[in-house]
Amino acid sequence: MLRQTLVRLSQQPQLRDFATHNGLARGMAERFVAGETLEQAIAVVRDVNTRAMSATLDHLGENVTSKKEAIEATNAACSMLAALTSAGVDCNASLKLTQLGLDLGDEIARENLQRILDQAAESDTFIRIDMESSEYVDRTLDIFYRLFETYQNAGVVLQASLYRSAQDLQRLIASKARVRLVKGAYLEPASVAFQQKADVDANFVKLTEMLLAEAHYPAIATHDPAMIAAAQRFAAGHQIAASSYEFQMLYGIRRDLQTGLVAEGYRMRIYIPYGSHWYPYLMRRMAERPANVMFVLGSIAREVTARGR
Ligand code: FDA
Repeated sequence: MLRQTLVRLSQQPQLRDFATHNGLARGMAERFVAGETLEQAIAVVRDVNTRAMSATLDHLGENVTSKKEAIEATNAACSMLAALTSAGVDCNASLKLTQLGLDLGDEIARENLQRILDQAAESDTFIRIDMESSEYVDRTLDIFYRLFETYQNAGVVLQASLYRSAQDLQRLIASKARVRLVKGAYLEPASVAFQQKADVDANFVKLTEMLLAEAHYPAIATHDPAMIAAAQRFAAGHQIAASSYEFQMLYGIRRDLQTGLVAEGYRMRIYIPYGSHWYPYLMRRMAERPANVMFVLGSIAREVTARGR
């Protein structure tokens, strides 16, 4: 119930504007977001690299409503790629097609993505297309397949929460595309998605096994120790080398698990978001773990008490 409410609130523009200018909410965002500027983000990438982990940088933004914003987001992605190259860090990029104008039409999003892929290809940088809510899955995959014919430096994300993902995965495996598997951060109806955590988890394990057995350098993106253990068991039982796949986690979440896996010899990539459009991202992180809401309420209570003194 709380999860549903928080995911719905993540789509509220008035709340977004309020939160973005609210000191407490900004403070909360700092736990999950590397900063508002590219320089701050690169500094976090360097820190992650010194801990023997790779990174993927996400310039936050989604659901733009004008061509101007879509072009600005594309320019920002290109500047980010240039900065990554000159910093010489171990980091690729993640982006969302609604940030590049998907709500305005497929062509504009495809053109903008192509510009980014062109630049990324010059420095041999990999671009991951995040997966958004189920209404975008067909169009995201269509755009991906069209560009993947030319740009092998692109990959996509599939969500274990959706019934369709096993079928989507078979086609992606046949195309030799790189896939990141996640549970799914969006609120989806029972007509398209599993509603019980146990069912999502069972599908995650099934898709993980398909990926490990057949896919080209898959990414298993989760903080769930049970999902990680299932991947490790399957890999060990099928003589799959730890260098043929990677685990991925979000910046600010389960740092202990991140470090522990690296110490055991597993590959780990940290998803690092930055920028001023952090509100929907932050709300999805709160929705994933109600304890985060208590953490924010605790900060507010402490702030109010301190002001009252
Ligand atoms: P689950 O939600 O079951 O959590 C397992 C444990 O992890 C929890 O018990 C807790 O300890 C910890 N945890 C999880 N979330 C936390 C949080 N917010 N704060 C603190 N602790 C937390 N989704 C999507 O729809 N499209 C996408 O493109 C992506 N991309 C993406 C990239 C990467 C690298 C990751 C790790 C995740 C995504 N996601 C995503 C988000 C994903 O769908 C999912 O919502 C979160 O990863 C949370 O699910 P878990 O697999 O961690 O399991």
